[in-house]
Amino acid sequence: MTAETRPRYAHLTGWGRYAPAGVLTNADLERMVDTSDEWIVSRTGIRERRVAAAHETTASMAAVAALRAIAVAGIKPEDVDLILLATLTPDYWMPATAALVKEAIGNTKATAMDLAAACSGFVYGYATAQAYITSGMAKHVVVIGAELLTRFLDYTDRNTCILFGDGAGAVVLSASDEPGGGLGIELTTEPQGAYMIWLPSGGSKSPPSAATIARGEHFIRMEGRETYRFATRTLATTALAAIEHAGLQPDDISLIIPHQANVRIIEAVAKGLDLSMDRMFVNVDRYGNTSAASIPIALAEAANSGRIKVGDRIVIVAFGAGFTSGAVAIQWTADPVRGALGDAVSPDSVHVRPPVDWDSVDPIPDALAEILARPGRVPLDLSNVVPGEPEPAAHPALR
Ligand SMILES: CC(C)(COP(=O)(O)OP(=O)(O)OC[C@H]1O[C@@H](n2cnc3c(N)ncnc32)[C@H](O)[C@@H]1OP(=O)(O)O)[C@@H](O)C(=O)NCCC(=O)NCCS
Repeated sequence: MTAETRPRYAHLTGWGRYAPAGVLTNADLERMVDTSDEWIVSRTGIRERRVAAAHETTASMAAVAALRAIAVAGIKPEDVDLILLATLTPDYWMPATAALVKEAIGNTKATAMDLAAACSGFVYGYATAQAYITSGMAKHVVVIGAELLTRFLDYTDRNTCILFGDGAGAVVLSASDEPGGGLGIELTTEPQGAYMIWLPSGGSKSPPSAATIARGEHFIRMEGRETYRFATRTLATTALAAIEHAGLQPDDISLIIPHQANVRIIEAVAKGLDLSMDRMFVNVDRYGNTSAASIPIALAEAANSGRIKVGDRIVIVAFGAGFTSGAVAIQWTADPVRGALGDAVSPDSVHVRPPVDWDSVDPIPDALAEILARPGRVPLDLSNVVPGEPEPAAHPALR
């Protein structure tokens, strides 16, 4: 392929999301740690988060979101030639979870790999997909953000366990010679923040053992205030750099889709860009922080609820462990009404092949299983849940 025949643009042609049915409310957390709904809502904006059932994994959630994005793009799974899965909670250390997703969606030809950049992972994946497409190495790329964070949280640590939830989102990027798609990209990595959010054990520095588990080193740790400072300092500047790389001004952007970590952080981005909150997409109240999944879930909800029109310029912007941050300014070209096509994909029809002669121990943390099984709650059978979805707001054109 010569420079003349390379596609010049990577359009966002498909989007989809998957949220597990289990809901963990602030009232549930009040029974587990010394916290209150009032504290959580006022400091973070979070009211509830989703919890994957025992039979669900990062791969299974990712595969549903990917198939939905593929349906919206109007292509076949076999048309995809690269699968990028951003996650900090893979099913296994190896193989890559993306390989399991490739099989589950029925694709035989794609290159499939995982990408680790924590909560910025989806944006890093988006940038990588764009580079593959505009270099001519791929025509259709699926970028997925999927996380199963509730299995890596210490439900005695009120600083962290209130923040995170489970879910998956995906987009399809497709080669085109027509202008549109990603117009400006900015990615940053600041390793001074490396130990501000981290998970100490399980890697080669400290392999898992009875001792590391006794020390609780298999759970996420976080310096909340330092992370908050980094986020408020960095998100607006990263978004602004992407907007400027696109040759635009903040006022040209109709919707910012920020990483959903904390509504106060989102308010700081709006202030930093001198934009009103009605240009910020917010759903952190319903999902909490789903790390790499948060932006593609939010993007799918924004498109399906009529917040994005053809021709709009939007920005996705994230920050996360590393510290990392990333933003892409995107010109939207797909008909948002196509989002309804993703509904045809039922989670029941998607299967991730399990290993032979091996099964995990019950993956749900005891504290969570106890809360989710309490009488009076919407019953959640942890062994065999048929996952459902929050009702998407109907697009005006679909009413
Ligand atoms: C975590 C976060 C919500 C805490 O809010 P904050 O206003 O900074 O609160 P602080 O950490 O200063 O804690 C204030 C007090 O509340 C307490 N507290 C912490 N978590 C609490 C909880 N869930 N419920 C009640 N009290 C809590 C603290 O112990 C502290 O008490 P003290 O003053 O007696 O020591 C906020 O720092 C934050 O959002 N940080 C960024 C986190 C993030 O986005 N992480 C993901 C990155 S991708």
